Amino acid sequence: MKEENSVTSIPEITLNDGLKLPAVGFGTYKLNGASGVNTIVGAIDTGYRLLDSAFNYENEGALGEAIRRSSVPREQIIVTSKLPGRHHKYDEALATIQESLFRSGLDYYDLYLIHWPNPSKDLYVEAWQALIDAQKWGLIRSIGVCNFLPDHLQRLIKETGVTPSINQVELHPYFSQEKQLVFDKEHGIVTESWSPLGRANKLLNDETIKEIADAHQKSIPQIILRWHVQLGALPLPKSSSPKRQLENLSLFDFSLSDKEMQTIGKLSHPAGRTFDQDPARYEEF
Ligand SMILES: NC(=O)c1ccc[n+]([C@@H]2O[C@H](COP(=O)([O-])OP(=O)(O)OC[C@H]3O[C@@H](n4cnc5c(N)ncnc54)[C@H](OP(=O)(O)O)[C@@H]3O)[C@@H](O)[C@H]2O)c1
Repeated sequence: MKEENSVTSIPEITLNDGLKLPAVGFGTYKLNGASGVNTIVGAIDTGYRLLDSAFNYENEGALGEAIRRSSVPREQIIVTSKLPGRHHKYDEALATIQESLFRSGLDYYDLYLIHWPNPSKDLYVEAWQALIDAQKWGLIRSIGVCNFLPDHLQRLIKETGVTPSINQVELHPYFSQEKQLVFDKEHGIVTESWSPLGRANKLLNDETIKEIADAHQKSIPQIILRWHVQLGALPLPKSSSPKRQLENLSLFDFSLSDKEMQTIGKLSHPAGRTFDQDPARYEEF
């Protein structure tokens, strides 16, 4: 790996409602309290302009504080939060969005996503209606979902006429979401990748990816994140280390060949989810 990493300019992705996002964002799961604030301020200083949080991460307060402490103006940062599964009922969803804002001390979120569809409860359309209205009232700039399968998305579109801007799903080389990516793309939905590094499991020691990394003089995480970008997915790596934050953003001075993309794609397998969280069965509240 080369010693120096540099953040050359980060390309932008335009959502179906016109909002522009940088092609890589920053995950904040487990970044809480004062140390979380410091880590997030560091990430903003390093160059991240898209931050991913959730009501259930219990760090919307740290997120808002980090934004206020950073030297970057609020309007230059895309801030994301998510609606928890226990508040899908319309009135509760609206109150939760307002509570998310109070916790962060922000006037609006750029992105607000339904965290899980929880199909057995059958309330996600109601939750979606609340997001649509909150967007109309100016509390949220862009609305989307996480962990939605094609039939969940089709139902939202059919029953409300509003297509999500984002679908954030588990995506990494061991679970490449080929069909979901095609579905999202066909419907004008941008796919964001959660756990893009497989939450640092054995993926980060994969021999096949290491060979490609050595050939490019890049690290394994850089090859994985570059693979996401070329796939057309937007990765949200989390790191508490300034050095790794910079490494994860330094992806735009090299590219992978079609053959390398295919070689990495072949590592995917149906049981490749990190924690077996299939949204058809797995629910989170
Ligand atoms: N919508 C959803 O349902 C959902 C679910 C899960 C996650 N998410 C979002 O997605 C974000 C990312 O996912 P994640 O946090 O699960 O996992 P991840 O980003 O795939 O992996 C994070 C782990 O990788 C390590 N790491 C990061 N960069 C590295 C590097 N360059 N070299 C070596 N190790 C590195 C981190 O350690 P250090 O911190 O020590 O660097 C941490 O242990 C979350 O933070 C959250 O915002 C969303």
